[in-house]
Amino acid sequence: MATATVTVTGTGTGTGTGTGVDMNWPLKKKTNGDGHSNGHIIEMLGITKIYDTGKIKVEALRGIDLVVNKGEFVAVVGPSGSGKSTLLNLIGCLDTPSGGTYHLGGEAVAGLDRDQLADVRNRRVGFVFQNFNLLPQLTALENVEMPMLFGGIGRRERRRRAMEHLEKVGLGDRVEHRPTELSGGQMQRVAIARALAMEPDIVLADEPTGNLDTGSGSDVMSLLTELWGQGRTLVVVTHDKTLASRAGRVVEIRDGVVVTDEQAVA
Ligand SMILES: Nc1ncnc2c1ncn2[C@@H]1O[C@H](COP(=O)(O)OP(=O)(O)O)[C@@H](O)[C@H]1O
Ligand SMILES: [Mg+2]
Repeated sequence: MATATVTVTGTGTGTGTGTGVDMNWPLKKKTNGDGHSNGHIIEMLGITKIYDTGKIKVEALRGIDLVVNKGEFVAVVGPSGSGKSTLLNLIGCLDTPSGGTYHLGGEAVAGLDRDQLADVRNRRVGFVFQNFNLLPQLTALENVEMPMLFGGIGRRERRRRAMEHLEKVGLGDRVEHRPTELSGGQMQRVAIARALAMEPDIVLADEPTGNLDTGSGSDVMSLLTELWGQGRTLVVVTHDKTLASRAGRVVEIRDGVVVTDEQAVA
């Protein structure tokens, strides 16, 4: 890979851009653009991303066109370093593109500042990372409540929703456990509950089964597939062929461009 000289590999945590529990989440509501959405939840045109580390510029994305309809389950595949995490971070408003236009749910987001991006992210996006990104000192319940706390949702409602979502992922009997007292698969299920508790338009997962054994990976896959069945929009970066095969659509990225984009044959 031509870009292998750069040490950051962006496994979802390496970019330092966020954990899904961003302390800067503002509470104010704002809209941007005309709010049209024409059934496209994601509309990216000519998106580029250049990481400028001073010494060296890395062209991580070199013109991505990607339109995703509400309710699609899209798997993003491609070799390591091809730009998958960069793309997911842009989709999720964790970072801004260097060029191109991006509408998320009809809102123009490419030119927003940090606070505005955090607001869009908070309202629309749920994240699931390879390394779970749970706060170790908090219980499962408190971890799930965290984004709702920053989202300005009241205490009782936070607790109610956190319980509901932990039960949905099969962890109703583990709500008082801390991450160290949970298995990898259970931690990832807590992270999924946390992503869902904000009732996002779109759920993004970066290698969600990457740190799991086959069995727990398969449980997590089933949960994600179930989500899709409930009509949510899901974009999952994965090396896992089985997970990719469950998606309705597979987008393959190489060297920062989309090389194939295929609907699964039912
Ligand atoms: N924060 C960053 N700073 C500089 N370069 C980065 C950063 N994040 C990723 N990169 C580089 O951008 C390219 C794409 O990375 P990434 O999106 O993480 O790929 P993938 O997720 O497909 O492995 C790689 O060359 C990577 O080294
Ligand atoms: Mg990655």
